[in-house]
Amino acid sequence: MFPVSFLTLAFAVLGATAQSVTVLKTSLSANGVAAVYPTDSNFTTVTQAFNQRFTISPMAVAYPTTAQQVGAAVKAGVAQNMEVVARSGGHSYIANGLGGTNGALVIDLSKMKAITIRASNNTAVIQTGNRLGDIALALNAAGRALPHGTCSYVGIGGHSGYGGFGFTSRAWGLTLDTVKSATVVLANGTVVTASSTVNTDLFWAIRGASPSFGIVTSIEVQTFPAPASAIVFQYGWNSLDITTASNAIASFQTFAATNIPKEFGAELVFSAGPSTSHITLGWTGAWYGNASAFNATITPYLKTLPAFSWSTITPGSYINSVSVLAGQPLNTASASEDRDTFYTKSLMTPQGSPMSAAAIKAFVTYMAVQGFSASSVSWFVQIELYGGSNSAINAVPLNSTAFAKRDTLFTIQMYASSANFAPPYPAAGFTFLDGMVSSIVSKSPANWSYGAYLNYADDRLTNGGQSFSKFQLVALTPRSASTLYYGSHFSRLQSIKAAVDPLDTFRFPIGV
Ligand SMILES: Cc1cc2nc3c(=O)[nH]c(=O)nc-3n(C[C@H](O)[C@H](O)[C@H](O)COP(=O)(O)OP(=O)(O)OC[C@H]3O[C@@H](n4cnc5c(N)ncnc54)[C@H](O)[C@@H]3O)c2cc1C
Ligand SMILES: *[C@@H]1O[C@H](CO)[C@@H](O)[C@H](O)[C@H]1NC(C)=O
Ligand SMILES: *[C@@H]1O[C@H](CO)[C@@H](O)[C@H](O)[C@H]1NC(C)=O
Ligand SMILES: *[C@@H]1O[C@H](CO)[C@@H](O)[C@H](O)[C@H]1NC(C)=O
Ligand SMILES: *[C@@H]1O[C@H](CO)[C@@H](O)[C@H](O)[C@H]1NC(C)=O
Ligand SMILES: *[C@@H]1O[C@H](CO)[C@@H](O)[C@H](O)[C@H]1NC(C)=O
Ligand SMILES: *[C@@H]1O[C@H](CO)[C@@H](O)[C@H](O)[C@H]1NC(C)=O
Ligand SMILES: *[C@@H]1O[C@H](CO)[C@@H](O)[C@H](O)[C@H]1NC(C)=O
Repeated sequence: MFPVSFLTLAFAVLGATAQSVTVLKTSLSANGVAAVYPTDSNFTTVTQAFNQRFTISPMAVAYPTTAQQVGAAVKAGVAQNMEVVARSGGHSYIANGLGGTNGALVIDLSKMKAITIRASNNTAVIQTGNRLGDIALALNAAGRALPHGTCSYVGIGGHSGYGGFGFTSRAWGLTLDTVKSATVVLANGTVVTASSTVNTDLFWAIRGASPSFGIVTSIEVQTFPAPASAIVFQYGWNSLDITTASNAIASFQTFAATNIPKEFGAELVFSAGPSTSHITLGWTGAWYGNASAFNATITPYLKTLPAFSWSTITPGSYINSVSVLAGQPLNTASASEDRDTFYTKSLMTPQGSPMSAAAIKAFVTYMAVQGFSASSVSWFVQIELYGGSNSAINAVPLNSTAFAKRDTLFTIQMYASSANFAPPYPAAGFTFLDGMVSSIVSKSPANWSYGAYLNYADDRLTNGGQSFSKFQLVALTPRSASTLYYGSHFSRLQSIKAAVDPLDTFRFPIGV
């Protein structure tokens, strides 16, 4: 039997108004908005999720070409009592660009790819149908750059809405920190500008939680001069024992606190070792400062580790570093990418309270022992350096954007694919990563103020024991998903949400 609350909610949501795809279709075509419907032969193709753990069936996928068409499409969806979501690059880890669950109207932005670069004030206006690789190429052609992640195919819509971390972020901040204004379509279909002078609450909310507040059709960003040179570095250790690998994390924490330049970005990457109680380590990053200072910058850390097994040092231009780090074409029209079948958790460690020796040892032991025998998954762990001295991410005042964490030392991404990267996803993959997070948290203070990163979305983060549901607003308790994702900003976000999206039209798992 279903719990009473479920029946009530189901009645309230499904019973209130009929949902007619036929009427939706009439309304979209009256407004000139192209769309693909479940009866169309290309529906399966256009609704494939990047993460094949998800098979989602939306009501329709609309392809507007202007902000006004986005507004018309949102109104058409609301009139049919549908939840509405935007899709930019479609790289949500939990298929939220398709709604995360069945039945949403998807507003695909791929027909909106303009990029306008203004030399007068070094801003660029970027429509949110663009992907990171194409943006990097367009800006670089004008000698400019933005901080953002490494994968070419990630869309700027989701990326800049929730964060946007790359190896230039210690110098320039997260992608969202560069946003000066945005064009946003609200739940009632109105097209507005949000900036530090107009719609200021909305402007605050879209820099950290945009998917819950509107459909951002373009962002105006502050660009940076493309660095004169760059060096991408990769060092590898094929097999480290638990003590040595634990020391590699502890000394990375210590190293971060020394006076490292902002032009330095890096992460540790762990993967299954060649034998139990051993682990494989990589140290990858980029240097955007004067090449002559590179060795002096990295040597203090390398000296804390045994001799590396291999290394690849790639000096070159800035855009070459973007290309090398992507490991795939930057021009996303020139090729297609492989999908994956995976589950991810994240953990943002507070700089003021770094991981203890006991927490690090438990974490490394887990990766080296359980990680060695976890044969149903292919996994890696990235320990990304957000903080450390001179980090632009942490220089931004906490309350100036909705991004909830400005005191992060490491964002740890724990990522496990099915063994052959194809469906089905093994149940053991979930418990493997749950245990990995627990290995750290259970050895950390009860009041440890860690967080989780919305761009590494986890649909299984619980809310006081209950899973997130698209029909549920969540309460703020110390370890709830609302706290981990939205931190002290959650209640302000809820009140802005009530003002701009009273019907909860932009509704999906882990939303506000
Ligand atoms: C291979 C890969 C590599 C990655 N590397 C990095 C990395 O280096 N650094 C990093 O920080 N992250 C990285 N990520 C995570 C990535 O930033 C997020 O998955 C991001 O949210 C994807 O954005 P998208 O537009 O492609 O996804 P989508 O699925 O299209 O959107 C994600 C969410 O944002 C919403 N959304 C999309 N567009 C808009 C819009 N215009 N207005 C409002 N809401 C919108 C969607 O509704 C959905 O909820 C990576 C992800 C993948 C798959
Ligand atoms: C889907 O198929 C229809 C009919 O063939 C076509 O008109 C439309 O352009 C296709 N849309 C996409 C996004 O592939
Ligand atoms: C940059 O300049 C353009 C005009 O060229 C102006 O419209 C815009 O508001 C400016 N942006 C900022 C952030 O000052
Ligand atoms: C790089 O550093 C060297 C040595 O300090 C110096 O001679 C050179 O001018 C610097 N180059 C740039 C581009 O700043
Ligand atoms: C810098 O360090 C690398 C690796 O340790 C070494 O191969 C290289 O020779 C060094 N370069 C200089 C200029 O010292
Ligand atoms: C941020 O704003 C909250 C109120 O929303 C306030 O309690 C807090 O002190 C502020 N924090 C900082 C660092 O300014
Ligand atoms: C956490 O608790 C410890 C004592 O157990 C205390 O010293 C510390 O200040 C607390 N930290 C926070 C962030 O509340
Ligand atoms: C749309 O919503 C916004 C935000 O709540 C509101 O300011 C505006 O008046 C609304 N517009 C219409 C046409 O209802």
